Formats: sequence, C-alpha cells, structure tokens
Amino acid sequence: MTPPARPRAAVVGSMNTDLVVRCVHLPRPGETVLGEDVVRLPGGKGANQAAALARLGLDTSMVACVGDDELGRWLGGSLEALGVDTSLVQRSVRLTGTAFITVDEAGENEIVVAPGANADLRLDAVDLEGFDVVLAQMEVSAEVIDELARRTSSLVLNVAPARAVAAATLSRCAVVIANELEAKSLALDGLAHCVVTRGARGAVHYSFGDVVAEAAPPVVEVVDTVGAGDVFCAAYAARFALNDDPVRALRFAVTAGALATTALGAQGSLPTTKEVDTWLERAS
Ligand code: RIB
Repeated sequence: MTPPARPRAAVVGSMNTDLVVRCVHLPRPGETVLGEDVVRLPGGKGANQAAALARLGLDTSMVACVGDDELGRWLGGSLEALGVDTSLVQRSVRLTGTAFITVDEAGENEIVVAPGANADLRLDAVDLEGFDVVLAQMEVSAEVIDELARRTSSLVLNVAPARAVAAATLSRCAVVIANELEAKSLALDGLAHCVVTRGARGAVHYSFGDVVAEAAPPVVEVVDTVGAGDVFCAAYAARFALNDDPVRALRFAVTAGALATTALGAQGSLPTTKEVDTWLERAS
C-alpha cells in the first residue's frame, strides 16, 4: 500500500551561524561579563523552523540566501542532514548571516543578528505552488514578506524580530504568530487568525481580538530557550498544513516549543511528532 503523502512545507527565511556564549547573567548596557567558550551552531529563524518541520515529518523545502562561503555550505549541509530540500537556497556575494547570542544560567537569551546574505533573498524565480503551508519570519527583506503575502494564501507569518509590516500584508496572512513584545508593536486585533506566544505561560489564539484557544506548556528542565519560538511556529504550521483545529494545534505547538528548551542550541532538541504526542497523552 502506498503511504499517505506527507504535507509539503516551504520555509522562507534566514540561515545564520549562531555564535553562542553561556554566562552567569546577561550583560547590562555598558557591562562586560566573562562567559564560557564560544560554541558555533546552525541557526537562523528560517533554518530552525525548517529543521523543526522536517523533524516533525513534513516534506520541507528551505527558501533562503547564504553567502558563497564555508559557513553557507555548512548550514546547507546541516539542513540536508535533517532531510530538508535546499535546492531553493540562493547564494550572495555577502557573508552568510551571523547571530551573536548570550545565554544565562536560567536559559534566557539575548541575540543580535547581522543579516548579511539573508537580505539578498529574492523570490522572482521561486515557485510557491503546491505547498500546504508557507512559513516565514522577518529576518529577510520587507519586500520578500510583502510578495509572499500577495503570492500565497497559505502564509503563516512569524513577525520576529518585530519590524513594521504593511497592514495589507498582515491581513493577507492565513495566520500571524507574535510574541507578547512583537504583538504590542503591531496592530493585530483586526486579524482573522493571530497567535500570541507568552513564554512559559503558553500561547493564545485570537480571531478578530477574541480568544478562540489557549494552551499552557508542560513543565520541563530548561537549558536554553533559543529557538523555542521557532519550534513553536514550525509545530503550529505543521498542524495548519494538516488542517488541525486551533485548540489541538495550539496544544501541540506549546508542547513542541517547551521540549525544544531542553538542550543547548536552536536546533539542539527538535522533537518528533511521536515525542510531542507522547507528552500530550501523558498530560491528558
Ligand atoms: O530564534 C532564534 C534564532 O534567532 C537564532 O538561531 C538566531 O540565528 C536568530 O535568527
């Protein structure tokens, strides 16, 4: 018997080299703190979300732009190892994107991103037909986001990091996902589907400002919160691609996001669908 086709996902977004330093506390403005040895890990909100979708079992393509350099090839290889199709990854003369990340003892983080080649991504030659979900974030140009919203009706947009987005673009999205800070800086009340993540307090799904679903994550031992939001978005997008209802989709996504905090690195603990389902069964 032929196995059922896996849902198809395209992730349009960044691929970064993450340079991660653990320290006792995050530096305040003007302060220098001593940290541990620096660790180089694959990252970028786009690549993290693509890696998470592939691990959750979706047929995943990455649409991104890296430098024509060693780090760009390394990032591509790390996604391919997880089964992500990288044939739509473009090359630029600029350096591959880099994120400078500090993580404190409680797993909280601060991130500065130098976008580099990510800013050169273009969609002119990219066919967006045939995907059950297109997932994007804001580490690429505003033009790319506007074009995506015009060209696909299956756009799940994670408005991270927060930047101005045209109202017409937001209203064309199938779902907008924001954290509490991002939600404050954008007018999201008029949207048909908007999900706001609240860290350890879980997430809420709003429709035209009314709550339609709410979910809290399981308690886990937190090592590093970097990438937890990305896994949340990927898990939510995976359920969107399967036409799941908002309540179940939200429970699935908060559980996947929590499991992603249990190891160092944005792609250090990506859960499978079976692992998420096991935690959900345990909780019910
Ligand atoms: O969301 C975490 C990601 O943000 C990191 O991997 C870093 O590259 C930045 O894009």
